[in-house]
Amino acid sequence: MASTPPPRTFHVKSFGCQMNVYDGERMAELLTAQGMTAADERGDADLVVLNTCHIREKATEKVYSDIGRLRRDDGTSPLIAVAGCVAQAEGEEIMVRAPSVKVVVGPQAYHRLPEMVAQAAAGTRSTETDMPAEAKFAALPRRRKSGPSAFLTVQEGCDKFCTYCVVPYTRGAEISRPFADLVDEAQALVEGGAREITLLGQNVNAWAGEDARGRKAGLAELAEELAKFPELARIRYTTSHPADMTDALIEAHGSNPKLMPFLHLPVQSGNDRVLKAMNRSHTADSYLRLLERVRAVRPDIAISGDFIVGFPGETEAEFGDTLRIIDAVGYALAFSFKYSPRPGTPAATMDGHVPAEVMDERLQRLQAALNRDQLAFNHSSVGRRCSVLVERRGKREGQWLGKSPWLQSVHFIGEAAVGDLVTVDLIEAGPNSLAGTLVSA
Ligand code: SAH
Ligand code: SF4
Ligand code: F3S
Repeated sequence: MASTPPPRTFHVKSFGCQMNVYDGERMAELLTAQGMTAADERGDADLVVLNTCHIREKATEKVYSDIGRLRRDDGTSPLIAVAGCVAQAEGEEIMVRAPSVKVVVGPQAYHRLPEMVAQAAAGTRSTETDMPAEAKFAALPRRRKSGPSAFLTVQEGCDKFCTYCVVPYTRGAEISRPFADLVDEAQALVEGGAREITLLGQNVNAWAGEDARGRKAGLAELAEELAKFPELARIRYTTSHPADMTDALIEAHGSNPKLMPFLHLPVQSGNDRVLKAMNRSHTADSYLRLLERVRAVRPDIAISGDFIVGFPGETEAEFGDTLRIIDAVGYALAFSFKYSPRPGTPAATMDGHVPAEVMDERLQRLQAALNRDQLAFNHSSVGRRCSVLVERRGKREGQWLGKSPWLQSVHFIGEAAVGDLVTVDLIEAGPNSLAGTLVSA
């Protein structure tokens, strides 16, 4: 491979979950620390990092089509690096299938991106998919700038091995970052402008550490410590697993006023046989009882979920149980997916794969129910007075967009600035947003 001048501009494109967004930001910070500049249009960047997701089939195909689309009219391509979970799972295949890709770097090894890019410019392609994540975090530069709402990865990897899921393979075993490191990163984010921090983990509520005095700490204690930053107004966390929802964390929703009244707690299915086949370690009933306890301490909490339709062997009656659990919970927000067989996962070789038309039809019914509930939740918020964290300008003159405590998008007209926490009366609801009037800045 011929050598090229070292890249001066870069673009990072992230697919997939919020942790990938976080990783993308950290990669951009690393490259900036090397003296490179972020380019807006990725067609013009010397280096393009595709930060990929492997969770469902189409995501992988998207990566290959993106690689193709990066080819310029004159037949050349920017220097392409593939990062993220597809890099981890299919790095070798990518190197073979896509000669324009010069760097493949897994989610736990991206601290090595700058040196790999330099090697690639000098003519050597390389792949790095080492685990685990500790070395990466230690090697990343201190954070400087932040928008009003920031992500902070506290826990990475997954030991749950749900039978449909690739994450335990692409992200590795569960690790928790040390308490002190997280407080330090949160401080940097707050100093850089963050008013809200969302703590991230594949199983964020499995986070465990020790506080400054050597006492055992969980997510509740971590959130309590972060709440001490006066400029930090809001703390969120995602994604939680029902099995790791501790008493302390539930209590924290009643006692920590900065912990927002929102809980993303995926159930996946409402049927116990399917849940068992998924290796979910909870039943429909234990999940509902858990939510009862959370609602007892925080009655206004918004519940959000993930659902999979058409898991192998799912019958019409079993799917009906999923519709029933939706009715029982009343989700404020939800993400739903057709089951997608992933190579190397136990479910991929199970019997009873559900035909595509059946999955389509179930997904439609599921989403109709979820949309109905999301609209109902938004309608139930009309009349509330709440805080809104202003994130950006709206399309209309004088209009601003932000988030309510319940993670709803809210728009209003008036004097404000990005990063303000304003008080708004919610006056009108739609399926995806609410209109408010400004009470005070
Ligand atoms: N750690 C998180 C997120 C996992 S991925 C959690 O446990 O919820 C996000 C969602 O993608 C999952 O909750 C699940 O609903 C969905 N998902 C994962 N693997 C899938 C697959 N093979 N097919 C369809 N949906 C899947
Ligand atoms: Fe995947 Fe299950 Fe782990 Fe979530 S808990 S990342 S769905 S294996
Ligand atoms: Fe996708 Fe990896 Fe996140 S597979 S959902 S980017 S952990």
